[in-house]
Amino acid sequence: MKQLEGRTIVLGVTGGIAAYKAAYLCSALAKAGAQVHVIMTRNAMEFVAPLTFETLSGQKCVTDTFDRNFQWNVEHVALAKRAELFVVAPATANIIAKFACGIADDMLSTTWLAASCKKLVCPAMNTGMYENPVTQRNIETLRDLGVEMVEPGVGRLACADTGRGRLAEPEEIFERICELLCAKQDLAGKRVLVTAGPTQEALDPVRYITNHSSGKMGFAVARRAAQRGAKVTLVAGPVSLPTPAGVERIDVKSALDMFEAVKSHMESDIIIKTAAVGDFRPETQAQDKIKKTGEDVMTVRLVKNPDILQYVGSHKRPGQVVCGFSMETRDLIENSGKKLRAKHADMIVANSLTEQGAGFGVDTNVATLLTEQGAEQLPMMSKEALADVILDRLLSL
Ligand code: C5P
Repeated sequence: MKQLEGRTIVLGVTGGIAAYKAAYLCSALAKAGAQVHVIMTRNAMEFVAPLTFETLSGQKCVTDTFDRNFQWNVEHVALAKRAELFVVAPATANIIAKFACGIADDMLSTTWLAASCKKLVCPAMNTGMYENPVTQRNIETLRDLGVEMVEPGVGRLACADTGRGRLAEPEEIFERICELLCAKQDLAGKRVLVTAGPTQEALDPVRYITNHSSGKMGFAVARRAAQRGAKVTLVAGPVSLPTPAGVERIDVKSALDMFEAVKSHMESDIIIKTAAVGDFRPETQAQDKIKKTGEDVMTVRLVKNPDILQYVGSHKRPGQVVCGFSMETRDLIENSGKKLRAKHADMIVANSLTEQGAGFGVDTNVATLLTEQGAEQLPMMSKEALADVILDRLLSL
């Protein structure tokens, strides 16, 4: 069966050299059975002819040219209503800025503003334009509004600069479209709370104790849960990761901050604690920067942080599902089994620090899922794929 049979997709094409890649994307979508309606900006037509898209999609390509035979003014609203997904590839800095501000001064931006379907933006532009704080702020605004992004790649750009800004490959965009349109909505109506990243335990205004957690696993869980229809709150320690589309994010620094944020979301149906919480914090936090005293040894007294997972596990209400993570350098399964019981969790995801393809910072993970029923050892997979397996198992508990 064709993957996207009968699905209605609007493909916006804006004026950049990568517009030719949109032709590949249009072709792949049409071959997968989608009804693709292409809207081109005036500048896009300088790069690729509308006829290319009309031939590939089998549909009239909407452009900004004045066309007496086309009932555009009514049609664009109808198209906005019919669309199941609105993709813009390539998206220039200009169209991203217009979308972020609600400017509707051409066919594409007008239809975008009228559409309330899922939206996906694939930026492509010069590195300087992409990295400009204004563009980054606009992208963040769109993300906050629930717009999905396919990040541009790094490489040699048409302007001969090298850096981030190349349109993602059509295959990657196609895959994301399939994910968005074909994702099961089995978490619809559920509230999911995810914690992610490290914590920072301050010694003074300058220094802190932390760990190597990148937050990637927790962000993947939050992203997949949101895509599967959940209302997701993500409590994030200090990490530099973009907020997944449609996710409410609460940034925290210390374990105590994280504890407060979690306590105020105890009503969640599923709580997944991927965060690498600092077990201890300095007993006191100096008001001013700690100065050298001339001594060769310095002693810092540490006090225990609250165990947030244990608190959540022991305050669980009937029907609520709690999942923790465990990372160990030895006796992984045995230690993780102990945590399952001690913290009253329904599942512990045990991931080794020493195994190839697992651990901090990488995009893959090797995990064993521990529940009362036993241990399920999983092969190496992407953190996104693992996020899906975890959510599947939690739903079945
Ligand atoms: O005991 P350990 O730190 O190995 O347990 C890891 C699990 O417990 C993770 O899910 C982590 O988020 C959670 N945890 C916590 N609060 C702490 C320490 C760990 O919620 N203070």
